[in-house]
Amino acid sequence: MTATAILVSGAASGIGRATCVLAVRDGHHVHAVDLDPDGLCETVELIGAAGGQATAHRVDVTAADQVQTLFATIGDGPRLAGVFTAAGIDRGGPADELDPTTFRQVLEINTTGTFLIVQQALRAMKATGGSVVLCCSPAAQVGFAAGGATAYGASKGAIASMTRTIAVDYARYGIRVNAVLPGPTETPLMWANVTSAQSAALRGQIAGEVPLGRLARPDEIAECVLWLLSDRSSFTTGSLVGCDGGVLAKSSISA
Ligand SMILES: NC(=O)c1ccc[n+]([C@@H]2O[C@H](COP(=O)([O-])OP(=O)(O)OC[C@H]3O[C@@H](n4cnc5c(N)ncnc54)[C@H](O)[C@@H]3O)[C@@H](O)[C@H]2O)c1
Repeated sequence: MTATAILVSGAASGIGRATCVLAVRDGHHVHAVDLDPDGLCETVELIGAAGGQATAHRVDVTAADQVQTLFATIGDGPRLAGVFTAAGIDRGGPADELDPTTFRQVLEINTTGTFLIVQQALRAMKATGGSVVLCCSPAAQVGFAAGGATAYGASKGAIASMTRTIAVDYARYGIRVNAVLPGPTETPLMWANVTSAQSAALRGQIAGEVPLGRLARPDEIAECVLWLLSDRSSFTTGSLVGCDGGVLAKSSISA
């Protein structure tokens, strides 16, 4: 059995899945956490094909009892060295049209779901130290030109704030807490609010607006997450780390 484990929420797809698969390189046992059982199976198969070991956990990150049981279950296994909270959704619309139920749902999954996982991670790591990485977004810091990101931006703004405050509180326990801010990345979430016909046109438009001229692959974000999870980032805590192709560095004013 491997000596250390990492836990990734949102592991059935996209950035979470890519992080699980690349984590094999660092020799961790992977606890893959998600709501989607089929996606989890695929992730575990990919980890196995990469030569790693994984356990799938079907958990709704918004359910405090399920998250508590999850951490009790993994407590007997290899030491938990790192946690990445990637479970999230993007639903929206301009503020004056936004259904309050949608607003609450986005905050419940993205923010409360992140908090519940992080809270248990802190309890598990308090005696041993560790690294926690939260999944934030450029939407925490700027308004997207495409508009309609009120709920998503609010949920990620809270994550940015949580990252800083928790990092300060838990540094004394040897727990580092950072957030990654992925730019537009080729995952299902990216196209959740558009039809497939619209996504083809939008992909080109978005690529043209990213300074590096393209969307990210999920594994490019995973590399940044794994650096933050590892001791290679041993003096980094409380940081919001952009992995965004230059999006946050750019102003759209061109004249
Ligand atoms: N794709 C992008 O362009 C982008 C950019 C910035 C930030 N992000 C963030 O990256 C993270 C991962 O997103 P992604 O792009 O890989 O999306 P994705 O849709 O591919 O993956 C999200 C995963 O979260 C899971 N999930 C949703 N609600 C859940 C719940 N209640 N409990 C457990 N699991 C749940 C889904 O089943 C899915 O597997 C999200 O937090 C997202 O906000 C993505």
